[in-house]
Amino acid sequence: MKRVAIIPGDGIGVDVTAEAVQVLKAAAARFGLEVSFREWDLGAERYLREGVTIRDEEFRELAETSDGILLGALGDPRVPSNVHARDILLGLRFKLDLYVNFRPSLLLHPSLTPLKGFEERAIRLEIFRENTEDLYVDLGGRFRADTPNEVAIQESIHTRYGVERIVRAAFEHARARGRGRVTLVDKANAMPSAGALWRRVFREVGEGFTGIDRDMMYVDAVAMDLVRRPDRYEVIVTSNLFGDILSDLAAELTGGLGLAPSANIHPGRIGLFEPVHGSAPDIAGKGIANPLGAIRSAALLAEHLGSLEMADAIEAAARASILEGIRTPDLGGTASTEEVGGWITERVQRA
Ligand code: NAD
Ligand code: IPM
Ligand code: MN
Repeated sequence: MKRVAIIPGDGIGVDVTAEAVQVLKAAAARFGLEVSFREWDLGAERYLREGVTIRDEEFRELAETSDGILLGALGDPRVPSNVHARDILLGLRFKLDLYVNFRPSLLLHPSLTPLKGFEERAIRLEIFRENTEDLYVDLGGRFRADTPNEVAIQESIHTRYGVERIVRAAFEHARARGRGRVTLVDKANAMPSAGALWRRVFREVGEGFTGIDRDMMYVDAVAMDLVRRPDRYEVIVTSNLFGDILSDLAAELTGGLGLAPSANIHPGRIGLFEPVHGSAPDIAGKGIANPLGAIRSAALLAEHLGSLEMADAIEAAARASILEGIRTPDLGGTASTEEVGGWITERVQRA
């Protein structure tokens, strides 16, 4: 029995997670995998109601009673500090030490890229975002807060241990999947201390992976080049913040945030699976959010649970929905969140 924890969260997270769970249940039934589901009330509502984001016991229980977590999104205009999203989402990534944030963007259909001339090209960008360090550790603080002389310090940390394990994960993925190139993205020209560490580790680790091209790019140049010639890139490995930014860009190049899945993993441990997008307050409650990012995250979760056939069936059905024109408005269609989710569920049942 595999155990899945569900954290729908806020805004469109609730809608897209409902569809992803339905699809996952259909796939589990179709392929005979026993899966139990438990929903967790974690998000803005709970925080506003109880003043609690997530308790230490809840982290422990989540970790001890699940094999994988499916999360929608966290973020609510009524919680402008975003404290609950940091505590819950970043809390899970940090406390579970999920150091790989794998964010693949694949062009599923020519109509989906906004780039002229790339409609028929193969675009597959796989970002390995370091997920436990960098500016996200929130080291620092404010001095003379709320005065005209305020000082704010937000430290960025990079450890040999942390850099090595994400770089290795990127190369191992490239080797396992037959990818030809791994690109390190940094800002070594302006931040030479972190840059020196990343580049040294990248060279050292990369040497052990013969036959895979290595290149190193500055993040500003790569942001430009991803728009100019996205098909030049395959696997990208980078630090936490750059990975956050580039993964939204990569998603948009291949159809938008509505499609992009992610896996937060630490091989051998419980994993956290979530669409790359947020709670989208601008479309929340309208029933038009694209559920594909969440559904494709459920496919990554199925793979994590050990069922490649479930993962493939879900991904194939998601792809088919696009080809058949069952699309939400962000992809130029008129289907609702539920219609897309329902269509994919039926397709998986018949897989
Ligand atoms: P967002 O990703 O929520 O939305 C950006 C834009 O993309 C919006 O116009 C939105 O309508 C559109 N969009 C996003 N997902 C979509 C989908 N599935 N279908 C159709 N359109 C979609 O980013 P934001 O507006 O900067 O953030 C909103 C809130 O979400 C903030 O509180 C932010 O902190 C939070 N957030 C949470 C996560 C997460 O929980 N993993 C990720 C990103 C942002
Ligand atoms: C993401 C989000 C989060 C991040 C926010 C909500 C803290 O943007 O998952 O990409 O920056 O990691
Ligand atoms: Mn982000």
